[in-house]
Amino acid sequence: MKKKTQSRKSSSFPKRKKILIIHGPNLDLLGTREPEIYGKLSISDINRQLQEKAKQLGVGLEIIQSNHEGDIVDLIGKASGRGIQGILINPAAYTHTSVAIRDAISAVSVPAVEVHLSNIYKREPFRHVSLTASVCVGQVSGFGLDSYLLGLEALTKCLNDNFGGRNES
Ligand code: DQA
Repeated sequence: MKKKTQSRKSSSFPKRKKILIIHGPNLDLLGTREPEIYGKLSISDINRQLQEKAKQLGVGLEIIQSNHEGDIVDLIGKASGRGIQGILINPAAYTHTSVAIRDAISAVSVPAVEVHLSNIYKREPFRHVSLTASVCVGQVSGFGLDSYLLGLEALTKCLNDNFGGRNES
């Protein structure tokens, strides 16, 4: 008789949570883009470190960079239907301008955490306003790569604690 093997699909194994990481416009240029502000790490370096952290935290990642506002809106709107439980987003310049991305985050019941490499509150006045932060669970700004890693850790904790399920201002 064949021995029964327990698969990941078995109810006694909780499914690994899936987090969507969204890098906004111009973050594909990291490494060469104003390194005195954003550091010398490329987006691939950051993604590698995020994957490493995700492994430690026991979550799965899907990582996307886009320079297009509508694409980011689509990604957020479709996240839940694609089995995504949380969103870590660096909206980059759209942080300061995009009502559409703000509304997308607000519209879905997927908790989002906003991150920035630089401290946006220490820079030009137009960067001091984030349209997106108020619909996120929280924001981490100013720690370079660590903003992403701390943001991922905080988001994972929120998901494990069932905290921050609905995004509202
Ligand atoms: C940024 C800050 C934004 O003001 C800027 O437009 C970016 C990057 C950051 O990670 O520090 O593109 O989001």
